[in-house]
Amino acid sequence: MGVFIRFAVVTVSFLLAVLLQNYRLLSRSLPAPKLNDTEYWGPGNGVNYQEDSAVKTFDIKVKPELIAGLKTQLSRPLNLHAPLEGIGFQYGFNTKELQNIVTYWLETYLRNWDKREAYLSQFPHFETQIQGLRIHYIHVKPQIAEGKTVLPLLLLHGWPGSVREFYDIIPLLTSPNEESEYIFEVIAPSLPGFGWSQGASKIGFGPAQIAVVLRNLMQRIGLDRFLVQGGDWGSVIGSNMAALFPQNVLAYHSNWCISLSPLALVTKTLCALFPRLYLDSEQREFFRSFSDEKSYLLEETGYVHLQATKPDTIGTVLSYNPIGLAAYILEKFSTWTNPEYRKLSDGGLTKNYTLDSLLDNVMIYYITNSITTSQRIYAEAFSKTQTDLDRVHIQIPTACARFKWDLTHATDAELKHKYKNLTQSTFYKDGGHFPALEVPQTLFKDFIEFVKKVAL
Ligand SMILES: *[C@@H]1O[C@H](CO)[C@@H](O)[C@H](O)[C@H]1NC(C)=O
Ligand SMILES: *[C@@H]1O[C@H](CO)[C@@H](O)[C@H](O)[C@H]1NC(C)=O
Ligand SMILES: *[C@@H]1O[C@H](CO)[C@@H](O)[C@H](O)[C@H]1NC(C)=O
Repeated sequence: MGVFIRFAVVTVSFLLAVLLQNYRLLSRSLPAPKLNDTEYWGPGNGVNYQEDSAVKTFDIKVKPELIAGLKTQLSRPLNLHAPLEGIGFQYGFNTKELQNIVTYWLETYLRNWDKREAYLSQFPHFETQIQGLRIHYIHVKPQIAEGKTVLPLLLLHGWPGSVREFYDIIPLLTSPNEESEYIFEVIAPSLPGFGWSQGASKIGFGPAQIAVVLRNLMQRIGLDRFLVQGGDWGSVIGSNMAALFPQNVLAYHSNWCISLSPLALVTKTLCALFPRLYLDSEQREFFRSFSDEKSYLLEETGYVHLQATKPDTIGTVLSYNPIGLAAYILEKFSTWTNPEYRKLSDGGLTKNYTLDSLLDNVMIYYITNSITTSQRIYAEAFSKTQTDLDRVHIQIPTACARFKWDLTHATDAELKHKYKNLTQSTFYKDGGHFPALEVPQTLFKDFIEFVKKVAL
C-alpha cells in the first residue's frame, strides 16, 4: 500500500508538472511571424514588376453586354426540381423561392439597373496596385465638422459579402453625430480576390498575407495609424493586422470575434460543458449546448470543407451561373441572419434586408466573376503562418460585439487568451452575421462606445 501511494503521488506530481509546463508554454505569446511585405502575388515571376503606386479613381460601370447576357440567362426556363413538400430552406435554397428571386431580379431589379449602378457608385471608388494586385476600395472623407476628432477607419467585409454591406453605416461614420466627438475617414476595400480587387495568382495567399497587403494599402493612402472594424474574414484579417502591425492599428473592433489558440479551444470546450462557470444567464442564451453546437456546425459548414479543399470546382459551378450563384450566396444570408429562417419557405430573406441590397451583393460577385477567387481564401487559411498568428497576443484595445443569431460565438474567457485588452464585450439579443447591413445603427453605436473608451 505504502509503495502504491508513493507511486501515485509521484505520478500525479509528474502529470501536474507536465500540465503546468504545457500551460506555461501554451499561454505565452508566440513572436509575430515575419511576413515579406513586398511579396509579389500577381501573375508570372514578377522580375520586371514595377509597382504602379498611383491611386486612381475607379468607375464601377458595368459593360452593357454583361447585363444583356445576364438578362438572357435569367430569361431561360429554369427547370429546377420542385422542393420537397412543406420544406423551407432545410435542404438548401428553396427552389420555389429561387424562382421568385429570379423573376424579381429580371423584371424589377435589372430593369432599374441604371439606378442600382448609380446607388453602388455613390461613394468615391479608387484602385491602386499593391504587390502585383489591383486593389479596389471605397474612400469617404468625413464632412468637415469643427470640434470633431477625425480618425481613419478600415472596414473589412467577409465571405460571401462585399463592400455593399457598408453602404448604410458609411454615412453614419462620416457625418457629424450626437453620440461623440469622433468622426471617421472610412476606407472600405474589396478584399483581394473579392469583387473589384484582383485575386492572387500564386498559392499561399491567405488572411495573414492579405493583412500585409491591406496595411500597405493604408500606407499608400497616407494613413499610418488607423482603427480596424471587421466581421467574418474581415475580422480574422483585422486581428492579423493587430498582431502583425500593432504600431499601425490603434484599436480593433470585431463583430465576429474568434480565438483559435489551443488554450482557447480547451476553454471553449469547458465553456460548452460548464456554461454556468463562464456566462451569466442572459449570455448563456447565445450559446448552444456542446452537442447542439457540434450538429449545428456539421449541418452548416459543409461549404467550408468544400471551399477549403476544392474551391475551383465549386467556383466553376458558380461562375457566370447567376441562378446557382444567387442560391449559394443568399442561402447564407438566410441562415446566418437567423437559423430559424431555415424553416421558412422564403428563407426570411426580406425580413431584415431589402431584396435590392441582397441582389447588389450577388451582382458584385457576378459582374466581377470573383466567386472562385473569393473561395480560395478558405484553402489558404489553414497554414502554419495562420496557426502561429492565432497564438500571438494582441495588446491593443479590442472590442467584441456579438449578435445573437450569428453562426457561432466566443466567450470572453476564450478571447482573453489572445486579446489581452478586451476593452468592450457586448451581447445583442437580435441581429446576425451581417450587422452592418442588418442593424447599422446598433453596430455604429457599439463602435462609437468602444472608440470613446479607447479615447484616442
Ligand atoms: C520578398 O518578395 C519579393 C518579391 O516577391 C522578393 O523579390 C524578395 O526576395 C522577398 N524577400 C524575402 C526576404 O524573401
Ligand atoms: C428581423 O425581422 C424580424 C421579423 O420582422 C424581426 O422580428 C427582427 O427583430 C428583425 N431583426 C432585427 C435585428 O431587426
Ligand atoms: C486597455 O485599453 C484601455 C483603453 O484604451 C486603456 O485605458 C487601458 O490602459 C489598457 N489596458 C492595458 C492593460 O493596456
